[in-house]
Amino acid sequence: WPRSAARADGELTVGGVRVTELAREYGTPLFVLDEADFRARAREYRSAFGDADADVYYAGKALLTKAVARWVHEEGLKLDVCSGGELAVALAAGVPPESIGLHGNNKSPAELVRAVEAGVGRIIVDSFQELDRLAEIAAERGRVADILIRVTTGVEAHTHEFVATAHDDQKFGLALSSGAAAEAVRRALDSAHLNLVGLHSHIGSQIFDTAGFEVAARRLAEFLTAIHTEHGAVLPELDLGGGLGIAYVTGDRPLEPKVIADRLLGIVRRECEAHGLPMPRIAVEPGRAIAGPCGVTVYEVGTIKDVEGLRSYVSVDGGMSDNIRTALYGADYTCVLASRASDTEPTLSRLVGKHCESGDVLVRDLYLPGDLRPGDLLAVAATGAYCHSMASNYNHVARPAVVAVRDGAARTLIRRETEEDLLRRDVG
Ligand code: LLP
Repeated sequence: WPRSAARADGELTVGGVRVTELAREYGTPLFVLDEADFRARAREYRSAFGDADADVYYAGKALLTKAVARWVHEEGLKLDVCSGGELAVALAAGVPPESIGLHGNNKSPAELVRAVEAGVGRIIVDSFQELDRLAEIAAERGRVADILIRVTTGVEAHTHEFVATAHDDQKFGLALSSGAAAEAVRRALDSAHLNLVGLHSHIGSQIFDTAGFEVAARRLAEFLTAIHTEHGAVLPELDLGGGLGIAYVTGDRPLEPKVIADRLLGIVRRECEAHGLPMPRIAVEPGRAIAGPCGVTVYEVGTIKDVEGLRSYVSVDGGMSDNIRTALYGADYTCVLASRASDTEPTLSRLVGKHCESGDVLVRDLYLPGDLRPGDLLAVAATGAYCHSMASNYNHVARPAVVAVRDGAARTLIRRETEEDLLRRDVG
């Protein structure tokens, strides 16, 4: 739950605002973001990694709006974007281009042109074709692009298959094991229009221990040594990516930013000392760990169906179009009655959406008060990351608004979509 979550007269409040008031004012489903909590988590990462010798890039794919980009910038973080669309939001928000890193395994030529022309600080190169394309684009414009090479370290991250990214058999990066990463480094060093600043690795997402990061860091430090030996080049930066897990349900035990920072900085320092290399500037890219916990989704209960002897199906006014994570990854969530207190015996329930398929589940198994009725508001916790950002218009359901709450006041960051919005693109 967001740090400001509390109860007033039995009602849930976030940022000092009652959820019932938010629902009345902005409608449901509604994404509610605790701004102070978002900023605090950003600051905690910033200070855990030390203010001078490391960069913290907030991963915008978790949740990006212009306001969010400004918060990130104001708290001293940089911003990782992974598409032209995210880059456009970052630039529109006034984030300085030099504090932006651009990712993507298939950046289009137009995206690369935009990044070079805007003067994006780091482009994380993911393939040989991109290396060539980018060198050409920079050359045509008389520029030199600062790049990192995304390295696949062969680490098997302990997380869902869809979000593990450092084993060899997947689409991201250039493999250490096959020599592709070494070949990319060679070509980058040879290019007059690419400035190879360092290496990048992202092992996966929703990870609860640092073991995988440590293996990756060790392999990258060895690779830095090999690069030094072969080319005499000392690459000054090492980006260890994002992926730090958050608590969705009781039992999830995330690590504190300080613990993560100490372990990661420690391992790189030890490895570099052992190989006689200077300590590189470290970067990390947390997305979920900053945005996730500070968001909740508020839904209104529409229908309740008791499936005899099994459970109660509680349908709300959103579903897989505002949170695909349960359907896609088998994610689990915590949900509470938000509009009033109830001391009725809890019933085994399944929280489902309004979409036309039975896989439209938000929470598979949960206990909700036995006196739940249509019109009650429910709040699902830890939906700040990868819910709004992965939202769709499936079944022509309009996407919810995103509101920020702080010190007893609320403001709209993203307005609710309307039927006119949905029809505007339908021009046939
Ligand atoms: N850096 C890179 C290069 C990434 O690919 C990602 C996430 C991050 C940083 C941020 O990872 P985080 O700290 O947020 O875990 N939709 C999935 C997560 C996909 C993550 C993709 N890359 C989910 O909802 O669980």
